[in-house]
Amino acid sequence: MIKIALPKGRIAKESLALFEQLYEGGFVFDDRRLILERDDFTFMLVRSQDVPTYVVHQAADVGIVGLDVIEEQQVNVVRLLNLGIGKCKVVVGSPVGKSLDYQKPQLKIATKMPHITRKYFANKAVSIESLKLYGSIELAPLVGLSDAIVDIVETGSTMAQNNLKIDEVIMESNAYLVANKNSFYGKKEQILSLYEQLKKCIKATQ
Ligand code: PRP
Repeated sequence: MIKIALPKGRIAKESLALFEQLYEGGFVFDDRRLILERDDFTFMLVRSQDVPTYVVHQAADVGIVGLDVIEEQQVNVVRLLNLGIGKCKVVVGSPVGKSLDYQKPQLKIATKMPHITRKYFANKAVSIESLKLYGSIELAPLVGLSDAIVDIVETGSTMAQNNLKIDEVIMESNAYLVANKNSFYGKKEQILSLYEQLKKCIKATQ
């Protein structure tokens, strides 16, 4: 039995679509149910940001998670396969018509990714105050809460519709199949078979 944590939210659709290819005849969680049992797998539906926690604590043997989330949480998981889905960028953004003023003694940056943010600006030797938000990040510089944001851009429409521009790209991200270290050794055969199956699916859709 392998336990798999699948992400809700942005990459949910594409992740579930991958498993739909493996399971002809549909792969759907019942209404509000969070667990789905199929053959030798137990699938669980969790918030994307929570996938690493389930995998690190071995409540899930494997999971699907964005590189941005792995980078933010600095988690120790085995990165097995780049799934080529959930493509996005982590960027620094600020209002159109204003440039980021690096002369300021301290820049205020709103973000839901404080670790990536601090690391990025520390490497540039720029002093910042990071303001942790949980969503609607794009609002912060529009109402004077921050000078800029560090956030995820996928289509770019949220930033565009809020009159923000990309100043700098911090990293490119997409979703990976990851595994718990102990599970990877203990259930190697099953996990590698899942890896092979997913790899075939990805190739078929490319
Ligand atoms: C992300 C991000 C932006 C939006 C960007 O939020 O914080 O708000 O997506 O997407 P776009 O470039 O296609 O407009 P997400 O949808 O992941 O929601 P969350 O706040 O629940 O994490």
